[in-house]
Amino acid sequence: MEFQYTKAISPEMNADAYVFFSFKDEALLQKKLQSIQKELQVTIDKNALSDFTGKDTQVNVYYAGDKRIILSGLGKKEKYNLEVLRNSTARAAKYAEGIKLSSIAVEILKASGKVEDVIGAETEAIILGLYKFNKYKKDKKDENNEGKKEITSVILFGDAGQPNKINKVIADAQALAEAVNFTRDLGNEPSNVMYPEEFSRIIAAEGKTGNFEVKIFNKSELTKMKMGGILGVGQGSMREPRLAMLRYNGGKAKDKPIVIVGKGVTFDTGGISIKPAAGMENMKMDMNGGAAVAGIFKALGQLKLKINVIGLIPMAENMPDGAAFKPGDILTAYNGMTIEVQNTDAEGRLLLADALAYADQFEPKYIVDMATLTGAALVALGHTATIAVTNDDSLYKKLERAGKETHERLWQLPSWDDYDKLIDSDVADVCNIGVGRVAGSITAGMFLKRFVNENKWCHLDIAGTGMAPKQMSEYVPKYSTGVGVRLITRFLMNEI
Ligand code: BES
Ligand code: ZN
Ligand code: ZN
Repeated sequence: MEFQYTKAISPEMNADAYVFFSFKDEALLQKKLQSIQKELQVTIDKNALSDFTGKDTQVNVYYAGDKRIILSGLGKKEKYNLEVLRNSTARAAKYAEGIKLSSIAVEILKASGKVEDVIGAETEAIILGLYKFNKYKKDKKDENNEGKKEITSVILFGDAGQPNKINKVIADAQALAEAVNFTRDLGNEPSNVMYPEEFSRIIAAEGKTGNFEVKIFNKSELTKMKMGGILGVGQGSMREPRLAMLRYNGGKAKDKPIVIVGKGVTFDTGGISIKPAAGMENMKMDMNGGAAVAGIFKALGQLKLKINVIGLIPMAENMPDGAAFKPGDILTAYNGMTIEVQNTDAEGRLLLADALAYADQFEPKYIVDMATLTGAALVALGHTATIAVTNDDSLYKKLERAGKETHERLWQLPSWDDYDKLIDSDVADVCNIGVGRVAGSITAGMFLKRFVNENKWCHLDIAGTGMAPKQMSEYVPKYSTGVGVRLITRFLMNEI
């Protein structure tokens, strides 16, 4: 998709439709309509307009002269924020695509806050809102696909300042949103296509063009490194496990890196502790944490942030098999700690244990991990907020702030020692599940905490927010949401 910025609005703009926003406020709406008619030198039929109120769910198209005008509601002015704008923009873009347009000119909303934020929000919302995963639907006779056109060109218009500066804001937002869509694609790919080796290959290819280094550790290297968690989970699958290490060196050599770890289970059957059949297909998205890490690096390479970041993505397919690991098995993690496996479906933490322990050698400023770790996360917070468990409240505050800014919101759960006791084992250093079903997301976090050493760390359980059973907002689609990419990239930007 191509973006352009132009300061002045003119009736001669090269777009299939003009998109304007309006609040739910009669006086403001009237004023807006007058200025639109004046600037575009058209008259819109009064009857046509009377049914538009500016409600935050409303989008209408008007035909005036040879122009199409799309009005998208923002709701009440008092409730306005960037999230309202993202939704209103995405709704308008999807509407335009729905009526088979291929180019739109979108007003840069004059609103409270920085104009850069408005432009960023609009650009992101258009790209994120128009996301589709339809590569396996090739049949053009399919009713839904027939004659489908896509939006390929967007002009943002309004006096927002220096073109050089604004074009950079647009390019950065575009790079970030495309990185989110890349993450969504990785998550939505089925596991017969996206298995550890292929996931690694894609990341390595991205590294070549994207200004970051990639090292892939294969099974024999993992064996030499004694990564017993990753190997244990992967041993029942014909697809070998991998560990991807990504490095982006934008900062000074002496700057301590931030390490981002993502769970990369390319399919989670539960293993010998097998999951029920219903809904198991969603476990092709059990690598969404890892996919988010890949997306973050794709964004970093384009945004050229002055910061050092290391990514770790342990990957495996969790299968029941004659060779699979079994309940009762004791695994030895990278740091030498032994783990009693009471449930092979609590596999994500086993992979993460190795990766978190491995992160220690980099003397990280912070470690943040993202994982579709527990069904309990969905029970607690649904698909609306990501659960955070941390050993450093100041790190949490920074992530929470980025969560508010991006609307990828976090909610902290406690990490008191009382919960830590629940994962003690009679026969090993730690057990991979807690006692019964209590506090499932916390005990998962407590398990990870045992592998982070003294480092400042925060765990983000994206089981609810990373996979959505329905469309969550105008720009957050069903299935793989790409959550984590905007959140962590913003967190990193705030660190500079
Ligand atoms: N990948 C799942 C968690 C999950 C469940 C993510 C549903 C998204 C939707 C994870 O590996 C898992 O199976 N966790 C178990 C842990 C339990 C055995 C302690 C769970 O949540 O049931
Ligand atoms: Zn599992
Ligand atoms: Zn899992």
